[in-house]
Amino acid sequence: MLQFSELGLPAVITRALDEVGYTTPTEVQAQSIPAALKGADLLVSAQTGSGKTASFLLPALAKLSERTDKPGKGPRILVLTPTRELAQQIEKNAQTYAAGMRWMRTACLVGGQPFGFQTRALSRPVDLIVATPGRLMDHMRQGRIDFSRLEMLVLDEADRMLDMGFIEDIETIVAATPESRQTLLFSATLDGNVGRLARELTRNPERIEIARQESGGNITEHLMYADDMRHKERLLDAILKDSGFDQAVVFTATKVSTEEIADKLSDMGYAAACLHGDMPQSWRNRTLNDLRRGRVRILVATDVAARGIDVPTITHVVNFDLPKQAEDYVHRIGRTGRAGRDGTAITLADTREYHKVRRIEQYLKRTLTEGVIEGLEPTRRIQKGAPRRNGGGGGGNGRRYGSGGGYGNKSYGNNGNGGGYGRRDGGNGSYGRREGGNGGDGYGRREGGPRGNGGGYGRRDGQGYGNRD
Ligand SMILES: Nc1ncnc2c1ncn2[C@@H]1O[C@H](COP(=O)(O)OP(=O)(O)OP(=O)(O)O)[C@@H](O)[C@H]1O
Ligand SMILES: [Mg+2]
Repeated sequence: MLQFSELGLPAVITRALDEVGYTTPTEVQAQSIPAALKGADLLVSAQTGSGKTASFLLPALAKLSERTDKPGKGPRILVLTPTRELAQQIEKNAQTYAAGMRWMRTACLVGGQPFGFQTRALSRPVDLIVATPGRLMDHMRQGRIDFSRLEMLVLDEADRMLDMGFIEDIETIVAATPESRQTLLFSATLDGNVGRLARELTRNPERIEIARQESGGNITEHLMYADDMRHKERLLDAILKDSGFDQAVVFTATKVSTEEIADKLSDMGYAAACLHGDMPQSWRNRTLNDLRRGRVRILVATDVAARGIDVPTITHVVNFDLPKQAEDYVHRIGRTGRAGRDGTAITLADTREYHKVRRIEQYLKRTLTEGVIEGLEPTRRIQKGAPRRNGGGGGGNGRRYGSGGGYGNKSYGNNGNGGGYGRRDGGNGSYGRREGGNGGDGYGRREGGPRGNGGGYGRRDGQGYGNRD
């Protein structure tokens, strides 16, 4: 079994990994770490919960384990993330992995928090900064950040940052960093706009794409149709009663509904709390901490919690509302089943939302198993009628990637091989939305491959996913 020490990491780091109980590197770590250590730029995509954070942090910390001869006090490593909670989590991970490197100084620069503390951190030498683009830009405008020592730039959840409209900020930030830097880009997807950004930011990057299991892997998925909102609430109630969950995340479409549902669950006696982007940051932090400590059992959240958040004790995800974009489905359900654990994801859909479900299934390239709860079956017919069809034909999608993940420990071992996921070189009509909403036009050259089935994404309605809602 491959060991962390064989990846070329310094002992000060492998000792810390022993301490946290990481015995063997995950597949994405085994591939990314040696490549990053030799200085290559990387473009990486891999399944949720598969250990991407350490894939960039460990080589970054390996750099920091050696002194720099460059003068100045600016950061040597910069990590950009789309959300504040994710930035904070990554800073914590870095501190854990660098437990033996007492000299290391980190700063987390995120919005919604006072400048004072952040400014003070920047007035001293800092080795690693984790930031959301907006707040980092604020500090840059004040002239507080000197990037002349910067050795490595990491973009985590790069596709999400683009979706959130951070492109100009990212470009400005990158322009302020030295050309000589190493760049690592992690993203759910590497085509479309992310591909373009990657070409701008990286030099001869190595592309690392780790197979995703076709079946959903260690996350068991269910789909349930509901007549209306009231019906959904009864289903949620029944799910929470019967599922034997430890901790759950319930995703809803709007900020208001996170509050309403969290209130209802609290009234029913659950330790529930909501999380959304309009809450004061101190409250957001407290809520997530309470979830991590087990004081909150049910988090009702918008997609602000869909990316990257790692609370390994979450056993269940419920999509109370369908995600707006098909790829968000994958990120939402990925809040459970982390690090090789099992998880359950239950998606509720209105009987009128059949076509939205189909879009998600097309993205996943598999169908979701429909289930019912006795006595709570939908009474309305699922509206399967023909959707508006004006799009082009199907774009196949291509190659299967052979070897799957594999934590090496038994629980993850079933992930071992053959779980290919058809790369999306073919039908990227789904990105049409980001390119002006025309996903239906001639994308998706067919690349053949075992799953090139002509389905194509998002093109049945000629629009691609997402923006129709
Ligand atoms: N080598 C390892 N051995 C055991 N556990 C690990 C290992 N690497 C990472 N983990 C654990 O796996 C969990 C998921 O890691 P991480 O958050 O980095 O996943 P990710 O791939 O970034 O997921 P997402 O796509 O959701 O952001 C964390 O709890 C982390 O501590
Ligand atoms: Mg992550």
